[in-house]
Amino acid sequence: MLLEQAAALLQPHVPLEKEALLRRLETPPEPHLGDVAFPCFVLAKQLRRAPSAIAAELADAVAADAHGVRAEAASGYVNLFFDPAVWLGRIVDAALEPRFGRSDESRGRHVVIDMSSPNIAKPLGVGHLRSTMIGNALANLYRETGHAVTTVNHLGDWGTQFGKLIVAYGRWGGKSALEADPIGESLHLYVRFHEEAAKKPELEDEAREAFLRLEQGDEETTALWRFFVQASMKEFERVYARLGVRFDEVLGESFYNDKLAPVLDRLRAQGLLEESDGALVVRLDEEGLPPCLILKKDGATIYPVRDLATAIYRRQVMKADRLLYVVGAEQQLHFKQVFGVLGKMGEPWTGDCEHVPFGLMTVEGKKMSTRRGKVVFLDEVLDEAVRRAREIIAAKSPDLQDADHVAEAVGIGAVVFGDLKNRRLLSVDFKLEEVVSFDGETGPYVQYTHARIASLLRKGGFEQHPGQDGANGAPRAADERVDMADAAWVCAKRITQWSAAVREAVRDNEPSAVARYLLELARDFNRFYHDGKVIQPDDAAATQARLRLSAAVGHLLGRGLKLLGIAAPERM
Ligand code: ARG
Repeated sequence: MLLEQAAALLQPHVPLEKEALLRRLETPPEPHLGDVAFPCFVLAKQLRRAPSAIAAELADAVAADAHGVRAEAASGYVNLFFDPAVWLGRIVDAALEPRFGRSDESRGRHVVIDMSSPNIAKPLGVGHLRSTMIGNALANLYRETGHAVTTVNHLGDWGTQFGKLIVAYGRWGGKSALEADPIGESLHLYVRFHEEAAKKPELEDEAREAFLRLEQGDEETTALWRFFVQASMKEFERVYARLGVRFDEVLGESFYNDKLAPVLDRLRAQGLLEESDGALVVRLDEEGLPPCLILKKDGATIYPVRDLATAIYRRQVMKADRLLYVVGAEQQLHFKQVFGVLGKMGEPWTGDCEHVPFGLMTVEGKKMSTRRGKVVFLDEVLDEAVRRAREIIAAKSPDLQDADHVAEAVGIGAVVFGDLKNRRLLSVDFKLEEVVSFDGETGPYVQYTHARIASLLRKGGFEQHPGQDGANGAPRAADERVDMADAAWVCAKRITQWSAAVREAVRDNEPSAVARYLLELARDFNRFYHDGKVIQPDDAAATQARLRLSAAVGHLLGRGLKLLGIAAPERM
């Protein structure tokens, strides 16, 4: 808002297009340098004049037609100072509009987001939390900027691991144990298989045969497979419900079983398949990549072919304009190869496929590993976070009603925010004590600020919903008379940066841009809050203006948390 206004004021006097000008504008680090600054160096060459001379002239020209904006030339910059008495009220009014910061820029663009995609018969690990929550946040953020989004859970419900599971079940398993604790028991069988296979390598062959029986549709094997899948899915759904995540589609790898042959035929017809040690591969020498394995010696199809079929399906049947894959960085090569093969197949939309990788996450130093059985179960991490949140709430707000419910929202929000605040490629070690804390760069801190504002608005009798000018709405002129402290102005300026944060998050597939923004907004608000009393009994106009600012901040905090997939309780 301030940037736009600055651009509008400067534009008639500079030889730059509006967009180019907007890109050049800066937000100065120090208040004495103004609210928006324009560096004149960029014009010096073109105008053959010293930056300081350009700045001086521009400042005069702007001063002549500015309302509520003062211009000063300093060291080759034009520094613009917006008068809070005029602009603060305008910013708050705009922010209270329901459409504030929404854009239709990308209307009609359909993005398919591959997210979560855990493997059946293994527990949901902390690693899957990242894919699920980054994917969920991206889906919300893309929708916020007008995209049509379809989220897909590409369940790992097919593959050689089922051969292992079936063999292990036949040897050491039992129906009742599996029914009682499907994932725990599957994991147990899986771990046992690897232990035994280390001593008896022929077990691996047995597993391959079992998987082949499954691929050929053997009835008994298929029934067992279906049982494994359904049991796991039930467990996953419980965790997804806790996280508040839903998928538009759950299309597992097995969904593509009948869509692989056409892909293989095409690869063959295009002369792309080559033999290598009895297996079939597509060479990717020109792409500087190792060959992509397509068909194994024993005829079993593998992971990359499914992703070829999946991408083609998403493009042709689901009509995606863009395909995002929110999958750990360890699969970087896999996706490069898949996109490389698609390119060789002559699919012109390969450039619209993007792997959105993320770094490894550990909890208190422990890695997620399903093979060795030293597993950090996501569910247990969530339980522990909720337990700690419950303790903090009991100490802070002993009389809180519905405290268990709030603790669930805060504990889970803490874990999710603790993940999303980091740039996604960073590896994160999670310390529960840190992420659950109500102070510091945490989810509970943002949630608490949001709840603090809700309480303030209740106390102040402020009931106006965003955008509606009800009886409680302050007359706009009142804002202009009220002289609010610097902290309020800092808050208002932060409000104007909201859409930039959302846009950055979408541009870089980086929800952390919004998480960081929320931390800054919360910090700015708390400074304002502690600066002086928001509610001033003998000054209704001042109180109303302060409540309006608080409402605008609260509204954005709530909206931001929601975009990140985090609950925003009204009381904490
Ligand atoms: N199931 C895989 C895993 O847990 C992730 C699948 C990612 N999506 C895909 N289209 N390959 O490692």
